[in-house]
Amino acid sequence: MMNLPRLGVNIDHVATLRNARGENYPSPVKAAKICEEFGADGITAHLREDRRHIKDEDIFELKANISLPLNFEMAPTLEMLDIALKVKPNACCIVPEKREEVTTEGGIDVKKNHNLLHTIIPKLKQSGIKVSLFVDADEEQIIASKDIQADIVEIHAGEFCRKIENSHDFEDNLERIKKASQLADNLGLEVHIGHGITFDSIVELAKIPEVKEFNIGHFIIAEAIFSGLGETVSKLKVLIKENRDS
Ligand code: PXP
Repeated sequence: MMNLPRLGVNIDHVATLRNARGENYPSPVKAAKICEEFGADGITAHLREDRRHIKDEDIFELKANISLPLNFEMAPTLEMLDIALKVKPNACCIVPEKREEVTTEGGIDVKKNHNLLHTIIPKLKQSGIKVSLFVDADEEQIIASKDIQADIVEIHAGEFCRKIENSHDFEDNLERIKKASQLADNLGLEVHIGHGITFDSIVELAKIPEVKEFNIGHFIIAEAIFSGLGETVSKLKVLIKENRDS
């Protein structure tokens, strides 16, 4: 059987929805279990510095309650390193973080963050955690990722995916992603792709032979509204009827 790329599902926005009402539902762990049941290969969660979606306890509960590999997205800070060493996820994906951004805007500048990464990466690896760096499709960043001994690069596909969604010319972006994937693979880095992926963009990205994993979040949770909305309304109608009649 062909060696297919894995699908990691990012469940951050289940927590966004929960936090919007301050209730204890929808549960990220319940969502992760459904993803597992339906063939996801991994669960990704990003504990942001401002805890706007995933909270510390979510990360520990995910690790304790799911059997899929957990990919812990984190900023390169000593606080996050400390949490990662306690959680012991399968992998850590190190991402740049700005407080005011709506979502991760670009890849990490590996050279600019050299000192922090040089402290953090060996500690994660010694603890048996694979280290992934979220980088732009840029030759210098890929080479710097190899030099600093990352195991994986996750290539930022945000701009490419947005162009597809808006029917703009995406060929240059796609070419850059393909070249970066080849280079990373040649250097012995495992290639992942993430950010902004949708049904339309996965059609192109799935063709890149070097890619071993996709990480997709916002679109899956958004699309799940439409797959589940009808069923939920029907179920409520049944409950109203059954209980009025009884
Ligand atoms: N990969 C990384 C490194 C990310 O930071 C994110 C966003 O948190 C994702 C994947 C998922 O992106 P999206 O929610 O746009 O699918």
